Amino acid sequence: MIVVFYVGLRSVASQQCIQPQSEDSNLTSKLGCHGTASKTYFKVYKLRQTSQAAMKSAIISALFLLAQHNMTTQFSVAGIELALFRYPASQESNLQAWDAADEHLINSLIEGEQPAVPTAIINDSFGALSCALSRINPNWPLRVETDARTSFLGAEQNHHHNQLPMDNLQWFTSRDTLPQDVALVLMKLPKNLTYFAHQLMRLSQVLPAGCRVFVGAKAKSINASLLALFAKHLGPASASLAWKKTRVITCISDGKPRTLPNEIIWDIPGVNLKISNLSNVFAANKLDIGARIMLDNLPQGEFKTVVDLGCGNGVLGLRAAQLYPNADIHFIDDSEMAVASANANWTTNQLPEGKGHFHWDDCMSHFPDNVEPDLVLCNPPFHQGEAITDHIAWQMFLDARRRLKNGGILHIVGNRHLAYHVKLQRLFKNCTTVASNGKFVILQAQK
Ligand SMILES: C[S@@+](CC[C@H](N)C(=O)[O-])C[C@H]1O[C@@H](n2cnc3c(N)ncnc32)[C@H](O)[C@@H]1O
Repeated sequence: MIVVFYVGLRSVASQQCIQPQSEDSNLTSKLGCHGTASKTYFKVYKLRQTSQAAMKSAIISALFLLAQHNMTTQFSVAGIELALFRYPASQESNLQAWDAADEHLINSLIEGEQPAVPTAIINDSFGALSCALSRINPNWPLRVETDARTSFLGAEQNHHHNQLPMDNLQWFTSRDTLPQDVALVLMKLPKNLTYFAHQLMRLSQVLPAGCRVFVGAKAKSINASLLALFAKHLGPASASLAWKKTRVITCISDGKPRTLPNEIIWDIPGVNLKISNLSNVFAANKLDIGARIMLDNLPQGEFKTVVDLGCGNGVLGLRAAQLYPNADIHFIDDSEMAVASANANWTTNQLPEGKGHFHWDDCMSHFPDNVEPDLVLCNPPFHQGEAITDHIAWQMFLDARRRLKNGGILHIVGNRHLAYHVKLQRLFKNCTTVASNGKFVILQAQK
C-alpha cells in the first residue's frame, strides 16, 4: 500500500509540478503516511505551488490510486459502488470508512423503495450514508448533521472523490436547528448515549408526528432500555431482524416537543474553575484522570501563546490562562460541542476577553499561519469513533512540532502502555518524563 501511495504521489507530482522536498511534512500526516503497521517513513512531496486546490487535487488523485489497490475502501451495496475513505486517510487498512450498520440502513431504504424526500443524516462518520443517497439520486435533499469536523471533512472528501454533486447537501452542527422540511431521518447510534438522548430530544422539536427515524446500530447495543430511551425522547420504536450483527431501529415521532435539560456546572477541586459540558464532550461532568495529573504538573514559564490541543471542555487551557495571565490561549477540538463548551467556560470563569481563541478543527490543520505557539498542551484521544487507534495522537504530535516556535514545548499526558515517549523521541529527538504514576505519564518534548 505504501508503494501505491508513493507511486500515486509521484505521478501526481509530475502533473502538478511538485518537487521533492522533505521527509514527513504536514502532507505526510494528512495522507496518513505514518502507521503502526509499517513504522516506515518514506519520501513525500511538498507543493511548491501552495494553492489549496492543487493540494486537494493531489491528495484526491493519490487516494484514488490507493482505492484501486485497497479492498477496504470499496463500498458495494445494492448496486451502489463507492470508494470511501476515513478522514484523514489512514494507513491502517483494517479500518473502514463505514460499517455493516450503514449497509443495513441503505439496504432497508432500497428494499422499501424510499422516495427522495428531504432527509436528515445524523452521525454519518465519513459520509457513507450521504454519498450513497447522493449516488441513488443526485438531487436527494440531504440535511447532514455532525459534531465532528473530521466527519464533515471526510464526507466532503468522499463526495469529491466519487464525483458526487454537493448542491443537494446542507450542513448542520449538533447545536444547529434542523429545518422544518425534514421528512425522514437516517441516524447511526453514537457510543455516547447522553449525546444520543440529546439528539432525540432535539429531533422531537422539529419532526412532525408520524415522521420515521431509522437508526442503524450493532445488534449487541440494542436492548429494552435503548428502546425506552426512544419512547421517552421521541416516540415508539422497534428493531428489525439482525443482519451482519446489526439491526435497524424504526422510531415514529410522536410530534411532542421535549425540553432540553439545563446544563450542569461543576467545580474542579484544587483549582478555582467552574466547568460545564455540552452532551458530546469528553468526560461528561467529571474530571478525566489524565487531565487531573496534567493539572498538577503544568510547566512553569512566561508562555505567550498556548494551544490546548484536543481541548474537550477546555480544562487544560483554562488553567493555563490562570497560570500564564499574559498568554493568548487557543482551544482546538474536532467536536464542535467541545469548542463551544470551552468557549462558554472561558466566559463563566471571567477570563480576559480577546485572550481566548476557539477553533473547530482536525488537529492543527487550519490553525492560523501567523500564530506561533510556545507551548502545546495535549491529552490525546486514543480512539476515533468506535475504532481504537493512535493515529490522531500521532497527527497531533506532528502538527505540534510543525507549528511550535523553535524552543517551544509539547507537554502531554498519556496512559503508560501507549508508549508516547517513543513517538516523541522519534519526532523531536528528545523527550523528558516530567511525572508519572502507576497508570499515566507526563512527557515533554522541545522543538
Ligand atoms: C482525551 S480527550 C481530552 C480532553 C481534555 N483536553 C481533557 O484533558 O479533559 C481528547 C480530545 O481530543 C478531541 N479530538 C479527537 N480527535 C480530534 C482531532 N482529529 N482533532 C482535534 N481534536 C480531536 C476529542 O474530541 C477530545 O475532546
